[in-house]
Amino acid sequence: MVSATAPGKVILFGEHAVVYGQPALAAPVMHLRARAVIDETRTADVNLIAPDLGRSAQLSSARATNPLAATVRVVERHFAKSLSDGYSLSVTSAIPIASGLGSGAAISVAVIRALGTYLGRADALTREDVSLLAYEVERLHHGTPSGIDNTVIAYEQPVYFIRRESGNVIKPFAPARPLRLIIGDTGIRSATKDVVGDVRREWQHDPSRYEAIFEACGRLADAGRAALESGDLPEVGRLMDENHEWLVRMMVSSEALDRLVAAARRAGALGAKLSGAGRGGNMIALVTAETEAAVGEALTAAGAVRVYTSDVG
Ligand code: PMV
Repeated sequence: MVSATAPGKVILFGEHAVVYGQPALAAPVMHLRARAVIDETRTADVNLIAPDLGRSAQLSSARATNPLAATVRVVERHFAKSLSDGYSLSVTSAIPIASGLGSGAAISVAVIRALGTYLGRADALTREDVSLLAYEVERLHHGTPSGIDNTVIAYEQPVYFIRRESGNVIKPFAPARPLRLIIGDTGIRSATKDVVGDVRREWQHDPSRYEAIFEACGRLADAGRAALESGDLPEVGRLMDENHEWLVRMMVSSEALDRLVAAARRAGALGAKLSGAGRGGNMIALVTAETEAAVGEALTAAGAVRVYTSDVG
């Protein structure tokens, strides 16, 4: 038996704008993890099992859209080795799906790591390789992913990220003072691909308005990085608030997200914003030891179906 895990993630600044080449910041959520387990079966074919979803398939007959099959094929190509027989691959995850916490990329990264170990090639897989392979899988589902999800999840470190045709800018960074985030889940599932597609249509309809919004978000990501590196947490919170307002103008927020963001601020959070694709999914609030409990309670009272705490740095 071999197994591997990978964390979830939050986007601190710059979601959506990052698809259009603007900088963004993301951080792993280390204690919410996806896990892949490989057991040898010594039989023909491969069982692909997702017990949480009640799904299973055989690799040989899996649809092209099956994400586990796609991940196996991507790793087969990378190592030029067959992975088509003799084992079962089972994935479980504590990361809620379709909620902006990177569950899909985390499952891909866990599977890639487990398959690397199964082949005895784990040492040959750098975090860059893992990230690029996960990106290939993400592209099958999302169309035009920026690459920030697979990067932060494969690196398991906060990253400053810019999408570039010529090679992405990836700068892991450490905040000067640790951040404590509360993550509030609206419980509403939202497909990243759909929201990214809607933003694309709006951008095509009114490019100058949308480009101004994207640039504003990019400036906030740069300012956020500077504030994080100087340990100015009140400024980080203020910038998060501002980022949320731009996401509202981008039309990717929702009544439920706005309600949770407002509740967190009223309860004393330094700042709050939606995180990820939006429409549903999760929001994040920056808290201190003094405000943490009150913000968590306020989020639950405002309708959050789950509340998590996550430390960055
Ligand atoms: O997968 P999500 O919901 O965390 O969204 C990823 C962030 C986006 O900027 C909306 C999309 C992308 O590819 O960067």
